[in-house]
Order: sequence, then C-alpha cells, then structure tokens
Amino acid sequence: MDIQRIDQYAKEMIFEAGKRIRDAFSYDLKVETKSGANDLVTNIDRETELFFIEKIKAFDATHKIIGEEGMGEKVDSLEGPVWIIDPIDGTMNFVKQHRHFFITIGFFVDGIGKLGYIFDVMREDLFYAIEGKGAWYNDSPMRKLQPLKIEEAIIGINASWVTPNSYLNHEKMIELIHTIRGTRSYGSAAMEIAFVVSGKLDAYISMCLSPWDIGGGTVIAKEVGAIATNLKGEYFDFLNPDTFIIANPSIHQKILEHYIEEK
Ligand code: IPD
Ligand code: CA
Ligand code: CA
Ligand code: CA
Repeated sequence: MDIQRIDQYAKEMIFEAGKRIRDAFSYDLKVETKSGANDLVTNIDRETELFFIEKIKAFDATHKIIGEEGMGEKVDSLEGPVWIIDPIDGTMNFVKQHRHFFITIGFFVDGIGKLGYIFDVMREDLFYAIEGKGAWYNDSPMRKLQPLKIEEAIIGINASWVTPNSYLNHEKMIELIHTIRGTRSYGSAAMEIAFVVSGKLDAYISMCLSPWDIGGGTVIAKEVGAIATNLKGEYFDFLNPDTFIIANPSIHQKILEHYIEEK
C-alpha cells in the first residue's frame, strides 16, 4: 500500500472540502437538531461527508468509511483500509461562531492508525501525521512533548464534567482543577486534541466521544508521544463511543490515578 500517495490524496481532499465549506456557509446553511436541542447538524456537515465518501470511493472502492453523519455503509470491523471521518467537528461553533470548527480524518489499516489529520477550516491550518514518520503542523515538524508537572498543566475540559454529573466523582475533578494552572473549553474535540499534540494544552478529558472525534487525532498523538486512552487507561476501539483522555505522557497516569473516579 502506497501510504505517501494516500497521504497526498487525503490532503488534497481536505483542502478542497475546506474551500467548499468556506464558500458555501455564508449563503446556504440549514441547521437541524439530531438527538436533542444542543445536538446540531447542517446540510454542510452532510454534504461534506458525502464529498469525502465520493472522493474515497473514486480513489479505491474497497476502502471502508465510518462517518459521523452515517452517509456511508455500515462498518462493524476495522479489517482492511478504513477511513474514520468527522466532516465538521465543532458544529455548534460552526453555526454560531463561524470559526473553531475542524475537519478530522483518520486512515486505519487493520485497526492500526496510519494517517491522521485535523484541519482548521477557517485558518487553513493542518495538523497531520504519518505513522512512524512523524507529525507536522502545516510544513513544520512537530516536536515530541516535553515533560511537565501537574501543577503547570492547562487542561481542556467542559464544565459539564466538573459540575455534578452521572459519570464521575466531580469533587475529584474540582480537586484537579484547583491543582493545575487552568482549564480551557473550545467546543471541538478535534481542536482540543490538536492543542494537546502541539503542547498548547497538556490534557483533554471527555466523558463521551465517538470514533470520528478522535480517529485522526490519535494517529498524531502517537507521533509526538501524547497518550490517548479511555478513562480506565485502555485503548479506544474506534467502533464505539467511550470516555476519553489525551495527555502529555508525564501527567496521563497521574490524572487517571488521582483525579478520575468513574461512577
Ligand atoms: C462534538 C464536539 C464537542 C464535543 C462533543 C462532540 P460535533 O462534535 O467535538 O466539542 O464535546 O462530544 O460530539 O458534533 O461538533 O462533530
Ligand atoms: Ca455532531
Ligand atoms: Ca465531532
Ligand atoms: Ca461532526
């Protein structure tokens, strides 16, 4: 399999999709809700996913595709080449703020992440990685993450996981927040993962993410030494939703051991 060629093709697809989104959304945006009032989807999420499916099938019709909006076939195994796609991560930011939304894509072969992309559509900034070859931010190689103390960390987390909730002992989370330097919440899992792999955040924690939120990001994580697991410390299976943490390797275990207590 020619990974360099697939990487080139993936990048071309992503830049083209980004341009289509930027060109379309100011005059043609239809917003709907999915599972509830805060779960938004637009015609552009769906059209972008379809665009990727058509492009990938034209490249190689045997490749399988898992996408958030379910426009492709049903996939229940990671055998062979599989693309995991979130056409727009941060749909609420997209609709409301017109920025801070991302295309994120992972390319896996037999369950192993080979290529990973996180693309800031408005800034046209690309974080990407090729398994075993390294990670880049646009044309600059990304550095391995440097160790730090938990007291120096800035962590991405939503307020929902720090206030009383049915997943976690939130008192422990409050203790974590009092220990670290600060928290951020950007409204896009892909953006928070991009920030952890590039050292702008030191961890990102979520109680529920889906394979498309993290597929691309976990490939980049491996190349810079970030550790991505569920909150039990196990690897994500990329077929089902799960809890999630990505962190600088010097604090991943400490956060799980001292501050995370699942109910
Ligand atoms: C969502 C965003 C959000 C995260 C949600 C995701 P979407 O993705 O990444 O930050 O908290 O869990 O579902 O729906 O905008 O692609
Ligand atoms: Ca969504
Ligand atoms: Ca998402
Ligand atoms: Ca999405």
